[in-house]
Formats: sequence, C-alpha cells, structure tokens
Amino acid sequence: MAKIIGGITTSHIPAIGNAMADKKENDPYWKRFFDGYEPVKAWLDEVKPDVAIIVYNDHGLNFFLNTVPTFALGCADEYHNDDEGWGIPTTASFKGDAQFSWHLAESLINQNFDLTTCQEMKVDHGCVVPMSLMWRHLPEWPCKLIPLAVNTVQHPLPSAQRCYDLGKALRKAIESYPEDTKVVIFGTGGLSHQLQGERAGIIDVEFDMECMDYIVNDPDKMTAFSNTEIMEKAGTEGIEVIMWMVMRGALAPNVNVLHKHYHAPISNTGAGVLLLTDGKD
Ligand code: DHB
Ligand code: FE
Repeated sequence: MAKIIGGITTSHIPAIGNAMADKKENDPYWKRFFDGYEPVKAWLDEVKPDVAIIVYNDHGLNFFLNTVPTFALGCADEYHNDDEGWGIPTTASFKGDAQFSWHLAESLINQNFDLTTCQEMKVDHGCVVPMSLMWRHLPEWPCKLIPLAVNTVQHPLPSAQRCYDLGKALRKAIESYPEDTKVVIFGTGGLSHQLQGERAGIIDVEFDMECMDYIVNDPDKMTAFSNTEIMEKAGTEGIEVIMWMVMRGALAPNVNVLHKHYHAPISNTGAGVLLLTDGKD
C-alpha cells in the first residue's frame, strides 16, 4: 500500500530560483537561507520517496483570473514548467504519475472534495522552485511529482480549515492506493509577505513563528484563524500558508519535527522550512 513517509514545508520565492541559477548559494545574503535546507535534502536522499505531492498555488501561468479552480489536481504523466515573468530559467519537463493521480481524484471526490482534474497543467515557480531547491545536486529529480494547486490568488479563497480537511482526505486517498509507493507531501509558499499596495514588504516574524508552532503542535489553533486575520498579520500573499495546512492534515495528529528553520527576509518574504514525520498517537 502507499504510505506517507513525511511532510515538508517551504517557501517558493522566485528569487531563490534566480539565486540557484546564478550560483549565489554562498553569498552572504543567501548562505543562511540555503544552509537551512541541507538537512531536508539529506533526509530526502536517504528515504528516497517514489512520489512527491506538491501543494502549491499557480501565480497566473496555467490559471489566469478568468478561470481559477479552488483545488486542481495534476493527472498527467508529464508536466512542463514555464516562467510567468520572473526571469527564472525553466526546468526540464518532469514525470507525473497519472494512475496514482486518478486514484487520488476518485478518492477525494468520493470524500466530497470536488476538485478540478488537469490532464495538462503547466507549473510555475510555486511548484518548481522548491523541487530545484531539494534536488539541484542530482542530474534529474529522483521521483515522480503530482502537483496539487490551491487557489490563493482570486478571492474567495479556501480557508485554513478547508485546506487542513483536504489534507486529512488526502491521507485516506493515499493510504487506499494498493501500490507500494513512498509518498512525501510538500506544502509550499508563505510565510508572511505582501507584494503590492501600501503594505508591500511587510514581514511579521512573530506571527510566522506562531504559525510554525501551531502547525506543528496545535493545528486547530491555525484553523481558528480566518483568512482575513491571516492576511492582516501575514500580508495578502502570506495567505499562502494555508497550503501548509494541506500537508499538515495529511500527517498524524502528533508529529516529529526532524528539522525546523526560519530566515527573514528573503526577497519580500519570511522563509520557513519544516520537515515532519508521523509521531506516536
Ligand atoms: C515572492 C514570494 C512569493 O511567494 C511569490 O510567489 C512571488 C514573490 C517574493 O518574496 O518576492
Ligand atoms: Fe507565491
């Protein structure tokens, strides 16, 4: 049977893609940020997942404002990356797992998550920057990817509670897949940032810390926040943290923290990293 071996959260800031392309990992501005990923890279190299489910948001590449699904699941055997305007070099196309995706879609829809299924889906920095971060030391990404897009752009957005519940349903969907498949789930985006308007550039380190703590130890405190409360504290794009709740819902009620790191600012963002596994009940 398929099994969830862990969950990872990470920002997906486009500037990280450019820093990697320009080999700036050891520059003073970047070093502490990139160092924060080394334990996660080492863990992935050790556990060797077969499939990574990437919870991310599309930033206007595949879904423009005229058509934005709340939840959209990639159901393809191959995905293509493109850059919607940040100047990041595009990555090679990468492998999906359509058979597994269709199983997930069927299970999730049977659990009343009526998501959009995409047999073609271009993915942007939200999906590929985290993957490049994890695996740029390898000639190609070592596992299949399944992108799961969450609308964090066009209001009304799903709540943290809805994302958490989707994660719980995703766990059931994964665990009912009969193939022996090791699955890791990535929640990408966040933490606090706002890219436009009067409050552009705000970062709330204290709130970011609180979110990381709640996500690990008390997810119900995170789901108690309304989206308005999250955006008041974390900025309009800080709402991306709801995608971390999909990852959290897919893990056990108690989790082990194998790694935790936070660095601010990177570009306009408070950048957080978590590596979690199921803990004891
Ligand atoms: C930045 C962060 C994001 O999540 C994003 O999608 C685009 C830009 C930033 O910090 O610059
Ligand atoms: Fe983003």
